[in-house]
Amino acid sequence: MVKILPSILSADFKILKEELIRVEKAGADLIHYDVMDGQFVPNISFGYKILNDISNVVDIEFDVHLMVNEPFYLLEDFKKSGASIITFHYEAVNDVDKYIKEIKRLNCLVGISIKPNTDINVLYEYLEKVDLVLVMSVEPGFGGQKFMDSSLEKIRQLNLLREKNNYNYIIEVDGGVNKDNAHLLKEAGADYLVAGSSVFKKEDYSKAIKELR
Ligand code: DX5
Ligand code: ZN
Repeated sequence: MVKILPSILSADFKILKEELIRVEKAGADLIHYDVMDGQFVPNISFGYKILNDISNVVDIEFDVHLMVNEPFYLLEDFKKSGASIITFHYEAVNDVDKYIKEIKRLNCLVGISIKPNTDINVLYEYLEKVDLVLVMSVEPGFGGQKFMDSSLEKIRQLNLLREKNNYNYIIEVDGGVNKDNAHLLKEAGADYLVAGSSVFKKEDYSKAIKELR
């Protein structure tokens, strides 16, 4: 069964605690936490302090998506603040193996992500070493954008590669996920669906999560 990960980038921050409790009650499997540095992406979001404050509010694990250039210096702080999964961008780092090793050393699951214009073949040499591959289906930086169909083929390819080589990575998709494309993403092989607007911009979070599932 696919897992649904509400992205708190789209939550109402003046009532963040309530938002978290509402999505937990509504059946969220993990919480997606978007970190943006204003350099790798043209927007700034939040750092590990907020994660540290909220990670114990709910009994769900946090999936940290780092849209940050060379975020090595932040990895340990995110782990200590409550991250279960830490995903970095292939395009944002020089030495991919260094990140994989360090995130594993911290006892987090390690994810690697690619932007819509990055080909999946750049990931081939890392696929046996990572726990998760995050396919961006919008240009990272903002919630509420339109889903890009090109991600479906990437997910199919990653699913085939996983079967063929007996790899174990989770396939996650992020950006513009909604109830109209969720079934296509599942059929293509996605395991984790990140959903910002299609949960937090709805009245009824339970219904929204059920529809996605
Ligand atoms: C975009 C972020 C996403 C964002 C998704 O850069 O990585 O996680 O919150 O929001 P929606 O689901 O609204 O596209
Ligand atoms: Zn994200």
